Amino acid sequence: MKVTIVGAGNVGATCADVLAYKEVSNEIILVDIKEGLSEGKSLDIFQKSPINLYDTKTIGSTNNYNLTKDSDVVVITSGLPRKPGMSRDDLIDTNSKIVKSVTENIVKYSPNCILIIVSNPLDVMTYQAHITSKFPRERIMGMAGILDTARYRAFISDELNVSTKDIQALLLGGHGDTMVPLPRYTTVAGIPVTELIKEKKLFDIIERTKFGGGELVKLMGTSAWYAPGAAAAQMVEAIIKNQKRIFPVCVKLEGEYNIDDCYLGVPVILGQNGIEKVIELDLNTDEVKLLEESRKHVKEVMGILENLK
Ligand code: LAC
Repeated sequence: MKVTIVGAGNVGATCADVLAYKEVSNEIILVDIKEGLSEGKSLDIFQKSPINLYDTKTIGSTNNYNLTKDSDVVVITSGLPRKPGMSRDDLIDTNSKIVKSVTENIVKYSPNCILIIVSNPLDVMTYQAHITSKFPRERIMGMAGILDTARYRAFISDELNVSTKDIQALLLGGHGDTMVPLPRYTTVAGIPVTELIKEKKLFDIIERTKFGGGELVKLMGTSAWYAPGAAAAQMVEAIIKNQKRIFPVCVKLEGEYNIDDCYLGVPVILGQNGIEKVIELDLNTDEVKLLEESRKHVKEVMGILENLK
């Protein structure tokens, strides 16, 4: 199995490192436009293999897409990260051009691959890659929900002083301030979280989750990479190993949740065919309202993208 990661910045390199360490595929191609960056990071990951004991080969390439030929899964992380004070949507102009040109190159060499988009603004960059690739929705998706639920789960574990391993959660909507964490679908070792954390505290945790990316941008002056890179790697693993895992993933909705033609995060089953099923939850009125706000926001940004052309 062959995996390509485009963008050897912090997120792309972390994703490559996690995949190599877990031996998810035998070959990883890391591509970047910056001369030497992907080669250097690939060599560094390779030189870690005698220490961490893995056989995955990581190969760097400065913009030579020939090397990516016949990849099974491709992760696109290219584009600018946020700076303090910026929203993800502020990146649309620059990143849409980058995602378009990267997608063109990928499709040329791997027309049958499964594409995972990580570039921001996430939902709309997934839409951009869809327009460019014309891939069916099964093979084009965005990584956001695993990251956002990971933040939510981490904050819950902190509050309860229990292992993050025991916290299961779901979340819907766009990868932005309108995301919709779902307390009704959040459990701690099977116990509904609402029995363990008071409403007000849970509200605070949800608010912190929504702005979780921004919290890190403020602290570091740039956006996060360990959790985003690992989250993308988890999607690659589910696909390559045909695990049929259920994750919140950004996908084109075609009537599910009464939403059409919009890229939004919803729970799906991920396996060797990519999105194998979109799971529809029976939402209550409040949840429907929140999802609708998120849909509206993502649709607006999709409109901005269309007007850029
Ligand atoms: C974040 C970026 C990767 O949420 O969108 O950290």
